[in-house]
Amino acid sequence: MFTSLCSGAIYLVAQVDPSPISLRTQDILYSEVLQRFLHFNLHVHARVLDRAVHCSLLGYGHLVGSSGGRRGLEGVVVFEVVASANKAEPLKVMISGAPASGKGTQCELIRRKYDFVHIAAGDLLRAEVAAGTENGRRAKECMEKGQLVPDEIVVMMVKERLLLPDSQEKGWLLDGYPRSSSQANALKEFGFQPDLFILLEVPEEILVDRVVGRRLDPVTGKIYHLKYSPPETQQIAARLTQRFDDTEEKVKLRLLTHNKNVEAVLSMYEDITVKVDGSLSKEDVFAQIDSALRALRKQGQTPLGSLAA
Ligand code: AP5
Repeated sequence: MFTSLCSGAIYLVAQVDPSPISLRTQDILYSEVLQRFLHFNLHVHARVLDRAVHCSLLGYGHLVGSSGGRRGLEGVVVFEVVASANKAEPLKVMISGAPASGKGTQCELIRRKYDFVHIAAGDLLRAEVAAGTENGRRAKECMEKGQLVPDEIVVMMVKERLLLPDSQEKGWLLDGYPRSSSQANALKEFGFQPDLFILLEVPEEILVDRVVGRRLDPVTGKIYHLKYSPPETQQIAARLTQRFDDTEEKVKLRLLTHNKNVEAVLSMYEDITVKVDGSLSKEDVFAQIDSALRALRKQGQTPLGSLAA
């Protein structure tokens, strides 16, 4: 194993000496090579390759001393596999909290620094409402009452977004999902396992104040608050809009729904949960989240070093 002085990338170079196999020298698939590694019990190499999702097979397959033919090759087949393992597996993060606890605000800060794909269940639903679809119409009825939108609408919507290539490549930041144990179970069944579950904790009296003063910029998507995070210019102030469910009456209903479901969801992610005091300034809240994410990133990178040792 060595590190490139130019790019800092870590390379694994492995030479495998497998038993006779039927192979096309110019046409070997990465998965076949990985299988060979596993077969030969080269756990260290296999683990490194396995983790390096973006690894590429840079050089491979010179056949040495073959007696020819697809089957029953005799002599030695030597593979030289070079896999770039500088890219750690993308992180998968969930953020949860009561209405107006600051999920959207923090997601914007996290996305800016970590470039995860931000997937907000509420935004996906509002887009459906705006598109005027049948699902959107049903969703709006529930949202107006502060209730959860039925699983058959939300679950598939979130699953499809998580499966898009950008979420797979950059990692995802799931906001406001899951909100029930059935949603968490569905995610697990589809094979989506988060690395970190962030819970924003904010006292209820602060939440109502935050909801009532929240405004959105339809041009930039930025979230403002008339008191805590006012718009920068008059021009922006003039175009701000308010969400249809941002009234004191409706937020109380949303809070009831949240309180009824939160424990069931939390119990499923206990071992990866970090609780954050969301009543602080948005910068201080972000500092707590950032520290948890940096620790996680560090953890994700360490095993490679220790494997090399
Ligand atoms: P959703 O859109 O997710 O709403 P929510 O959970 O009620 O959360 P909010 O978006 O209201 O708040 P937030 O935590 O993002 O706070 P923000 O950063 O904006 O869901 C809406 C509805 O859709 C649900 O009620 C439900 O019907 C349905 N739905 C959604 N997901 C679903 C699911 N999985 N299953 C079924 N149904 C689902 O901040 C709020 C305000 O506070 C802003 O003005 C901001 O500027 C300010 N602020 C933020 N942080 C701070 C801070 N630290 N200090 C001072 N002010 C701050």
